[in-house]
Amino acid sequence: MESCTEEISYVSQQEAIEIDDMLMGPLGFSVDQLMELAGLSVASAIGEVYSSSDYTRVLVICGPGNNGGDGLVAARHLHHFGYKPSICYPKRNTKPLFAALVTQLESLSIPFLSEEQLSVQLSSDYDIIVDAIFGFSFHGTPRLPFDSLIRKLVSVRNQQCTHQKAAVIISVDVPSGWHVEDGDIFGVGIKPDMLVSLTAPKLCAKMFFGTHHFIGGRFVPQSIIDKFKLKPPPYPGTSMCVRIGNLPQTNLSAQKGIFASSESLEEVEEDPIYQFQKWFSNALAAGIKEPHYMVLSTADIDAKPSSRMMSLEGVNKDGFVWQTNYGSRKAREILENPQASLLFYWGPLKRQVRVEGFVEQVSEEESEQYFSSLSRDIQIRPIVSKQSRPIHEREVLRQQYRELEEKYHDRTSIPRPKHWGGYRLIPEFFEFWQGEESQVHLKLRYSMEEIDGRRVWRIHRLVPPLAESASSL
Ligand SMILES: Cc1cc2nc3c(=O)[nH]c(=O)nc-3n(C[C@H](O)[C@H](O)[C@H](O)COP(=O)(O)O)c2cc1C
Repeated sequence: MESCTEEISYVSQQEAIEIDDMLMGPLGFSVDQLMELAGLSVASAIGEVYSSSDYTRVLVICGPGNNGGDGLVAARHLHHFGYKPSICYPKRNTKPLFAALVTQLESLSIPFLSEEQLSVQLSSDYDIIVDAIFGFSFHGTPRLPFDSLIRKLVSVRNQQCTHQKAAVIISVDVPSGWHVEDGDIFGVGIKPDMLVSLTAPKLCAKMFFGTHHFIGGRFVPQSIIDKFKLKPPPYPGTSMCVRIGNLPQTNLSAQKGIFASSESLEEVEEDPIYQFQKWFSNALAAGIKEPHYMVLSTADIDAKPSSRMMSLEGVNKDGFVWQTNYGSRKAREILENPQASLLFYWGPLKRQVRVEGFVEQVSEEESEQYFSSLSRDIQIRPIVSKQSRPIHEREVLRQQYRELEEKYHDRTSIPRPKHWGGYRLIPEFFEFWQGEESQVHLKLRYSMEEIDGRRVWRIHRLVPPLAESASSL
């Protein structure tokens, strides 16, 4: 499989809109043509990575706009490539173009399912889920029914984390729910395994750290390339799409139970958050169980430390977010002393990441948004949770849980209890530790420094001399 590792150019939302206007204006393209090219690129990229014999069952979730149309076209091509697509298209676009695409699919006996017909655990019914809900013109917050469909896709990714059999997610152009330029702002959105950028990658693609990034834009005329300073990759042969960047090698390392390649610390990101996301994606790709579990250490006003396991709920350019009880011991310690550290350990890759910084409570709005993204049964848990307090009657809690289940059984969402919400660690120090077979373990440190009033990351590489390697652990 060919790939392109040349420098990638990204476009803003405004530029993407201008490119579309130019294509469909002076350059004479029709929307049908662009949709056909997009859908074919998506289907071809899927075909390059996921064989129709191993990944036969495909669910294509289509939004109401052009991204949904791209999904409909992709479904038709996937059918002809030997896959078995089903479509969920809850808000059908009534324009003739979209109605014609639906007719084409119906004539191939491709089933259309309502949102209610989809099971809660999509992974048991499908091998591939194509997210064609929202594209580059989307802004704002997803509404019903797309918000709950996006939640289902997020829970597929959580299953991947917990090592259960999970479908792979392919996002068309922009992972739905992400900001077109800033990406997964709250860090709790869809984490696709594959992104197929169309025409040119949008800025949010910089935050994509899944395994397969493809671009489909072979038709883009030179005048657009020049005007928007695009750097289109060389497309091999007659392909409609090409991989951008290399496949991570860590899959193999993990399967063989050996160390990840030390090359992984040769090409490092300038921004440690990107470096973290890269390693996190590597951990997911390597099949590591629950890579989002971390140790959170806090200390009280007298600097007496305490540690506990936590679940990382999101990471983005602002920091690392987790959810907890605001009446817990850790919450009290954070109030007294906002310094904290996080520790991740991904054994099969022999990798450890330490993150230190100060902690702030996330906004009410962010906690609400996160809470509403959870499934109903998970929302009930924090209501009955009595962290860091003695529990006298376990049966009382069980009874309370049952009562809440009964009370909310016909509701899709439950109000967030005020004692439950998020914290964010804003990092000031990172250490990436890579174990090596030679025992000469590598460390990469990032520390935040102020230079001319600007906060910048300074990178230090620590490669111990051979003789000291035994004590370099
Ligand atoms: C793997 C694992 C993940 C956990 N994730 C969370 C979490 O995300 N939020 C939370 O409040 N507690 C979580 N806990 C429970 C905490 O470790 C801890 O017991 C609880 O938060 C009370 O801690 P504190 O008394 O130090 O405040 C988790 C425990 C384990 C073992």
